[in-house]
Amino acid sequence: MRDDIERILLDEEKLSGIVKELGASISEDYRDKNLLMISVLKGSVVFMADLMRAITIPCRIDFMAVSSYGSGTKTSGVVKIVKDLDINLEGYDLLIVEDILDSGKTLQYIREILTARNPKSIRICTLLDKPERRQVDLAADYVGACVPDEFVVGYGLDYDEKYRNLPYVGVLKPFVYGGK
Ligand code: IMP
Ligand code: MG
Repeated sequence: MRDDIERILLDEEKLSGIVKELGASISEDYRDKNLLMISVLKGSVVFMADLMRAITIPCRIDFMAVSSYGSGTKTSGVVKIVKDLDINLEGYDLLIVEDILDSGKTLQYIREILTARNPKSIRICTLLDKPERRQVDLAADYVGACVPDEFVVGYGLDYDEKYRNLPYVGVLKPFVYGGK
């Protein structure tokens, strides 16, 4: 797999530092709240697993899966719930945990459906952000790191379901997805 990676953006040590800092801020901000972390499958599982252990206050977790129509390296903006949450959201302070915020369309949609279920509050925590790619008015409340407009994989992020198990975040060589 390493041969398919152009360069490493965030190594294991860097990622662990990012997660510790996010965990500390979230623990502080949610001290008197009713935290429910919602992981958006599958890209955020690795981040979620580390982040929840960096949080020192009581919290609950749940998972949802959405699929965006269109494959490859772009999101269409049309999103379908493939696996819904188990927990009724009323009374909870939600923290949506995402792997990467790109166009923002996926998260905007998820936030809309979850808002309709009357949680106490909703915030977004994303490991990675590509701000220059944003197509909707959406900002994350917690951002691990901003990355350039290149396709990245590893630490949960995939290309065609591969590379999720890389322990670092790296830029995928464009030839892998049919680029130059
Ligand atoms: P958005 O709706 O355009 O913000 O897309 C968000 C989703 O697209 C993420 O949850 C990822 O699954 C996927 N995605 C966007 N950029 C990348 C990338 O660079 N690497 C891997 N997946 C990505
Ligand atoms: Mg993906």
